[in-house]
Amino acid sequence: MENIKIKDKEFKPLIDSARIQTRITELAIELNSDLKGKNPLFLAILNGAFIFAADLMKGISIDCEISFVKLASYKGTKSSGSVLTLIGLDEDVNDRNIIIIEDIVDTGNTMTELLPKFNVFSPRSIKIATMFFKPAALVNPIKPDYVGFEIGNEFIVGYGLDYEGLGRNLNDVFVAI
Ligand code: IMP
Ligand code: MG
Repeated sequence: MENIKIKDKEFKPLIDSARIQTRITELAIELNSDLKGKNPLFLAILNGAFIFAADLMKGISIDCEISFVKLASYKGTKSSGSVLTLIGLDEDVNDRNIIIIEDIVDTGNTMTELLPKFNVFSPRSIKIATMFFKPAALVNPIKPDYVGFEIGNEFIVGYGLDYEGLGRNLNDVFVAI
C-alpha cells in the first residue's frame, strides 16, 4: 500500500482492510455469544461509525435491533454544562441492553458526555464497542467493552474516520506522518 495525501497532510498505511474484516468477524463472534437471548439494541454514532456498524452487523446472527444516532454540538451557555446533544434516539431504551457503536475513543470526552444522557432512562445495560481506541490519549475514566484495535496517540483516517471531512470512504486505515 502506498502513502496518501489529504489536503495538506501525508498519511501512511496502518491497518489494511483484510485485517479490519478479520477483527470484525472476531468481535461479532464475541458479541453473538455475550448477547444471545438479550435482544440488544445497537446504537451507532454517526457519522464516523457508519461503516464499522454495517460491517459488524453482517456478522451478528442473534436477534437484535440497530438504530443510528448523532451527537450534535450546540452553543449552550457555559452554565448549561453539556455541549453535545443526542439526536435521533427514537427507540425506547428502558430495560434494553444497549451497545454503543463508535468509530474511535480518543480522549473519551464524547463518551463521557454521551453516557449520562441515558440516566433519564433505565437501560438494563450499556456497553461500548469501538473500532479504534487510543489508550494513551484517554483523559476520562472510559473503558470500552469491545475494541477492534488499540492504536497509539496518533491521527488516523479511513474506514469511516475523516480528516476535515475527507477519507471516510477509504477501506484501509492510514496514519498521519
Ligand atoms: P473523543 O471525544 O476525544 O474520544 O473523540 C471523539 C471523536 O473525535 C471521534 O468520534 C472522532 O470523530 C474524532 N477523532 C478522534 N481521533 C480521531 C482520529 O485519529 N482520526 C479521525 N477522527 C478522530
Ligand atoms: Mg465520531
